[in-house]
Amino acid sequence: MIPVIAIDGPSASGKGTVAERVAGRLGFHYLDSGALYRVTALAAQRAGVGLEDAGALGPLAAALPVRFDAGDIYLEEQVVTEDIRSEACSRDASLVAAVPAVRAGLLLRQRAFRQPPGLVADGRDMGSVVFPDAALKVFLTASVPVRAERRYNQLMNKGIPANMQVLLRDIEARDARDASRAVAPLQQGSALLLDTTHLTIEQAVARVLAWYAAAAAAPS
Ligand code: CDP
Repeated sequence: MIPVIAIDGPSASGKGTVAERVAGRLGFHYLDSGALYRVTALAAQRAGVGLEDAGALGPLAAALPVRFDAGDIYLEEQVVTEDIRSEACSRDASLVAAVPAVRAGLLLRQRAFRQPPGLVADGRDMGSVVFPDAALKVFLTASVPVRAERRYNQLMNKGIPANMQVLLRDIEARDARDASRAVAPLQQGSALLLDTTHLTIEQAVARVLAWYAAAAAAPS
């Protein structure tokens, strides 16, 4: 059985950075599932498909010509690594993610990332829906102001203009939408809670690695 570490949590909690570093330490593969929803939103926008048009979005997600290669993300042959990180795309991704046909269309593609020697997957429903048999499930979060600040710094570092008040509002709106949707809502469930409000990235990484070592050593 190929081990999976599922790291779920709300927007801008830092789960992507933590997941990627944990994967690097263990030599595991890494799945950024949010990127698939972001690329779906971008592809829909480019194809002129409405963000709640389930009939068109399902097939679009299932046949999405997306590729992850050497740290870059491609839609067809075009690099969209930066495009999908805009705040507009973040909002659109959370809209298409609420469409059941989109989630169904992306399910097998996500499971295909489970390759030896293991996988670290981050998102909203990695532990609850996509990899329910994950060896370790973590719910990684932080307070809303700290998450807004992290997102602000992330955007500034990329030279993307940002407004703190708008970010706070967007994060709260996205949290509410992700947690209240009918399919695969964001929830802690049986995952271990990792509140990173007062932790550095490295402290969070160390915590996940320690939990995984304990889970891997425990008799199943
Ligand atoms: O960076 P941030 O945490 O804001 O977003 P992300 O992880 O890239 O995900 C973008 C959007 O996709 C989220 O707002 C979720 O609505 C959705 N998503 C989801 O529904 N299920 C996942 N497994 C991953 C992301």
